Amino acid sequence: MDAKTAADSKTIVTDLVLPSETNPINNLFGGELLARMDRAASIAARRHSRRIVVTASVNHVAFNRAVPLGSVVTIEAKVSRAFTSSMEIYMDVWIEDRESGECIKANEAIYTFVAVDETGRPVKVPELIAETDLEKERFEAALRRKQLSLVLAGKLKPNDATELKALFIS
Ligand SMILES: CC(C)(COP(=O)(O)OP(=O)(O)OC[C@H]1O[C@@H](n2cnc3c(N)ncnc32)[C@H](O)[C@@H]1OP(=O)(O)O)[C@@H](O)C(=O)NCCC(=O)NCCS
Repeated sequence: MDAKTAADSKTIVTDLVLPSETNPINNLFGGELLARMDRAASIAARRHSRRIVVTASVNHVAFNRAVPLGSVVTIEAKVSRAFTSSMEIYMDVWIEDRESGECIKANEAIYTFVAVDETGRPVKVPELIAETDLEKERFEAALRRKQLSLVLAGKLKPNDATELKALFIS
């Protein structure tokens, strides 16, 4: 199975914020952004694995900046690391300024997808080659995030989360 780069899975989704997608103060509803990111991440995971993919966990979401009604929102999703059957997808969310066209970073999120066969059983995915400095940074930290997610899900004993523990214990 040939390794892939993050660029191979790069997925860009651009869409408007409409009135039915906002909260009472006219900003994008958080759940709507989560759903848009889930779609973008699933396409990136599919491009990396060329398999059926399912969302295994939402590892991190930071709603740093409100997204006002009428905004043009762009989600950029890329696989940041591939393990055996799971892939971490890192997403950056941008809002486009109407007048200048400048893109301002609004949010970011990290999801985990698993490639499965037709019966839902996990299958192997290609390795990921990180190329840029940012991709290498995200790749390095991904194992800690996987361990944290598994510990929180009760699927890994804290004592076995060696990479994660190394952050706190020298
Ligand atoms: C995700 C799913 C396939 C995992 O199946 P499983 O029986 O737990 O299989 P495994 O224990 O072999 O785990 C498979 C991979 O998922 C990873 N994984 C499972 N739960 C995870 C979690 N909470 N966080 C991060 N990774 C997780 C495992 O580490 C493993 O990764 P690896 O193969 O790269 O090492 C299964 O739980 C599932 O189908 N869930 C429902 C998915 C779904 O319907 N999503 C939409 C929600 S509406």
